[in-house]
Amino acid sequence: MNNELAPGVKWVGCVDWNVRDFHGYHTGRGSTYNAYLILDEKAAAVDSVKAPFSDELLENLRRELNGRRLDYLICNHAEPDHSGSLGAVLQEHPEAELVCNAKCKATLEKHYMTSKWKFRIVKDGDCLPLGRRTATFMDTPMVHWPESMFTYLPEDRLLFSMDAFGQHLATSGRFDDETPLATIMDEAKTYFANILMLYARPITNTLARAATLPVSIVAPSHGVIWRRHFPAIFKAYQDWVAFKPARKVVILYDTMWGSTDRMARAIAEGASADGVDVKTISIRSSHITTLAAEVLDAAAVAVGSPTLNMNMMPEIASALTYLKGLKPLNKAGFAFGSYGWGFKGGAQVVEEQLKAMDVEILCAPLMAQYAPDAAVLAACREAGGLLAERALRG
Ligand code: FEO
Repeated sequence: MNNELAPGVKWVGCVDWNVRDFHGYHTGRGSTYNAYLILDEKAAAVDSVKAPFSDELLENLRRELNGRRLDYLICNHAEPDHSGSLGAVLQEHPEAELVCNAKCKATLEKHYMTSKWKFRIVKDGDCLPLGRRTATFMDTPMVHWPESMFTYLPEDRLLFSMDAFGQHLATSGRFDDETPLATIMDEAKTYFANILMLYARPITNTLARAATLPVSIVAPSHGVIWRRHFPAIFKAYQDWVAFKPARKVVILYDTMWGSTDRMARAIAEGASADGVDVKTISIRSSHITTLAAEVLDAAAVAVGSPTLNMNMMPEIASALTYLKGLKPLNKAGFAFGSYGWGFKGGAQVVEEQLKAMDVEILCAPLMAQYAPDAAVLAACREAGGLLAERALRG
């Protein structure tokens, strides 16, 4: 396996082939925890790995250091998937300075016993001479936590971008030209939707700053390293932070006895205009991780639920809670669903949730008592047409 990003810059991270649940995120293709080592007059490691992989990281560092001392351990991000092995590295290399910003130090102090760690605090724009190279630091707050920062090696045009541009994707090849680009972009989009969508605004600022850096290689902390296709992921990030809508409609629903399912199908039929991609998603057959990625670039979203206990179905409530937290913007849509003998609750409660998400409501909730009749199904097809119209308008 080629793990060399540039002469003297190595990947020393770990591949987590079998992780399928990353704090609730369904990682269907596994993940990697990327750590790097810069060998110059000084030796500097960049980030660490999740704690269970500490031994593997230490072994990789021993092999690459080949007896050299480690001078610096740079921490770009304090989240435990990247900081979980800092202690193990510093235990083996007690002479190394832990390089991070002040917010990161404060966060690490909450997570770990740091009293013996030798911190070197850096600020935005600071430089750390390593020999032929100089590491420079750029604060990137809320990409993904308040303390997050990038480390840049101008001599190699190499950016260590931490979570930004990452993907939960386990591969044997380390670089973006060793795995099909469609697979990488699919996972990068899912990653952005589930981890970073909420922070679209601060990421917009970070992208503007990153655009001023000459880069040949971008090394995130998860997934493959960008050395050939960085313009593609950079452009995709620009679209995602702007919530640029695709000609896509998402119809999300749950059903009890098939009535809301029939309504969803009628809505999908009405939305199926030329050039419109319609995704009809039963919450019971799709994970919220996939749902978030589908909603990210959808122009229009309809959400359906039967009425259960004077409310929406719990799976729909869960999905909407998750989506509301991620704050997808620039969507239009409506609610739909069936009800029984009394309270017409499901669709109405869904509509309240859509309004709370600032979804532009295209029509009143579509409701069917017990089962949709021909008139209700016709109304569903007509409302589907509204979704298609919105998707085509962009
Ligand atoms: Fe991969 Fe925000 O940690």
